[in-house]
Amino acid sequence: MTHTQSPPPSLDPRTEIAFIGGGNMARALLSGLITQGHATDGVQVVEPLAETAHALRADFPDLTVHEGASTHLSRADVVVWAVKPQQFVHASALYRDWTAQTLHVSIMAGVRNATLQTLLRTDQTVRTMPNTPALIGLGITGLYADTSHVHTSQRHLTEALLSSTGQTLWVDTEDDLDAVTALSGSGPAYVFYFLEAMQKAAAQMGLTAQQGRVLGQATFIGAASLAANSSDDLAVLRDRVTSKGGTTAAALNCLQDHAVGDSFVQAMLAAQARAKELGRA
Ligand SMILES: NC(=O)c1ccc[n+]([C@@H]2O[C@H](COP(=O)([O-])OP(=O)(O)OC[C@H]3O[C@@H](n4cnc5c(N)ncnc54)[C@H](OP(=O)(O)O)[C@@H]3O)[C@@H](O)[C@H]2O)c1
Repeated sequence: MTHTQSPPPSLDPRTEIAFIGGGNMARALLSGLITQGHATDGVQVVEPLAETAHALRADFPDLTVHEGASTHLSRADVVVWAVKPQQFVHASALYRDWTAQTLHVSIMAGVRNATLQTLLRTDQTVRTMPNTPALIGLGITGLYADTSHVHTSQRHLTEALLSSTGQTLWVDTEDDLDAVTALSGSGPAYVFYFLEAMQKAAAQMGLTAQQGRVLGQATFIGAASLAANSSDDLAVLRDRVTSKGGTTAAALNCLQDHAVGDSFVQAMLAAQARAKELGRA
């Protein structure tokens, strides 16, 4: 696996991008691109819902928004598929004739590369798995491409594009994307689950819901940032805040007694199994 180099490849300002679907994730990418200084006058979005199309035009005035297929789509250097997975069969049939000669990047969960290639009638496809912090530029996206068909410059283009929503990480096999789905794709929900538990404990200890939330959130952000800025093993970082016989040791012993770590591993394996199942559906 390779992680985003620092800095990631930059996006050529002349790159023409077409989004199929103008929902939450397309908006996250658009906002990220603008934050990075990429002009949106070379960007098109196809969004059939008039209300959503209108809102996009209002929020991104330089953007070209189509409410259906357009010959202009053939100008795109890269087409980003940002519809719901169940909408892809229909959407691919509507637009593939205009986009046959270009790179296709899918952000759709669970749509296999072979399905992309068959329905889009090309092997120039990249699968990606973003997560919801992409909405505020703090996402991490797993990327997979069959390197026998997708060349380095196309992979750099994909990485530059997805870097607008946070970090990126290439994986070697398509199956690895199921693990990415189980880890960072579903991961924000695990963090919210732990934060809820911390907030519940805070209430039992006499703190308000707001105090519990603020303390829990800041602890997650602080500890994750500490780990991200350290080359020490996670176990070393944990040991460093765990004095023998102290408060942290009491809590960690309790977590161990309840096999919380093992349960967490089982939970993620269940997510991976479900991702595989959905990919076969
Ligand atoms: N949200 C996340 O955090 C997240 C994370 C990882 C991956 N993803 C993946 O990202 C993809 C998009 O998710 P999202 O949250 O952005 O969904 P979303 O908000 O529902 O956006 C999808 C958009 O595509 C439009 N659309 C439907 N059919 C279309 C067609 N034929 N042509 C053009 N546009 C069409 C939809 O319009 P209508 O409203 O009319 O249906 C909607 O505006 C999904 O495949 C999801 O699996 C999302």
